[in-house]
Amino acid sequence: MILTEKKKKPDTVLNEKEDVFILGIETSCDDTCAAVVKNGKEILSNVISSQNEIHEKYGGVVPEVASRKHIEMIDVIIKEALDKADISSHKISAVAVTNRPGLLGSLLVGVGASKAFSYYNKIPLIAINHLKAHIFANFLADDRLVFDSEEKYISLIVSGGHSSLYIVNEGLDMKEIGHTVDDAVGEAFDKVARYLNLGYPGGPVIDRISRNANSGFVEFTRPMLESKDFNFSFSGIKTALIYRTKKFPELMNEKNIPDLAASFQAAAVDVLVQKTIKACEKFNINKVLVSGGVAANSKLRHEFIQASSKKNIKIYIPPPRLCMDNAAMVASLGYFEFKNGHLSDLDIDVYSRTDL
Ligand code: KG4
Ligand code: ZN
Repeated sequence: MILTEKKKKPDTVLNEKEDVFILGIETSCDDTCAAVVKNGKEILSNVISSQNEIHEKYGGVVPEVASRKHIEMIDVIIKEALDKADISSHKISAVAVTNRPGLLGSLLVGVGASKAFSYYNKIPLIAINHLKAHIFANFLADDRLVFDSEEKYISLIVSGGHSSLYIVNEGLDMKEIGHTVDDAVGEAFDKVARYLNLGYPGGPVIDRISRNANSGFVEFTRPMLESKDFNFSFSGIKTALIYRTKKFPELMNEKNIPDLAASFQAAAVDVLVQKTIKACEKFNINKVLVSGGVAANSKLRHEFIQASSKKNIKIYIPPPRLCMDNAAMVASLGYFEFKNGHLSDLDIDVYSRTDL
């Protein structure tokens, strides 16, 4: 077990020339993740144990089941991350862990393991905001991004729990400019998939079956597209799909399911892309960071690239494996916080919601 290795000597002085190895830990929802990242950029390992199969039969994440599974897996996954990185625990400079926002029971498992790792190895603990960490997937994926520059960005974070737009200022200071007023977009994908009997999680399967389907099969409304703010609403598209299929039951014939799914996806993506571009125009910012699980969606990626080339806006979207929850993004943000001296105490708590 990793927690029984020999103790290292206290080493509190940060030597600028020394390589920094951050162990990242992420358990905010239903993935048990650990990663080792060197100097904030180089991913030495990125291990993800998904619980999708367990939650599939319930059609969504069951929090109590998720935290029990994290308890079973956390030590194994941390050990695997260290082994894959070919590094021993006494070489790790600090441990960064998501402590907000997320499912409390799930967060507690990662935070508990991280506190033990930090205490035993006498290395700093760094509490990480999951949403900010998603943005660091962009940083990991693209060398042109430097977050301590004066550059400003519009950031769109789209996941199972969040759909928000931010302005990212110098030093990663974030100001929210819009959010969903009901379902997160990933949640809407998951609910529509459950209604169409496509399994859980719904986003990847809707994405896949939509690829050769007719997205103009049903013209769903684009909620809040014309609103003056930068808020979103996705439950209306989901409800419209349900009403439409109740009124015309033949729409639920097997052959129509891909076209229905593609029509829903097109409406959701259209709102996300158009509102993000509007935010760029209003705030005069021409760089966009897209992140979160839904950023893996092929239609969203395609539409962003199309829109950006017309408007001279630069879009950054990480590769799909870094869009989903993972601990490399946590470790990368951990490096940034470590360099800035933002260390945490061992009595940090967990929070289901949080302001940035
Ligand atoms: O960021 P993430 O892994 O976990 C949260 O922080 O929520 O996002 C998970 C969400 C799920 O709702 C899932 O259905 C959605 O991301 N998702 C997708 C795709 N891959 C994952 N949604 C649309 N298209 C995808 N390809
Ligand atoms: Zn996430």
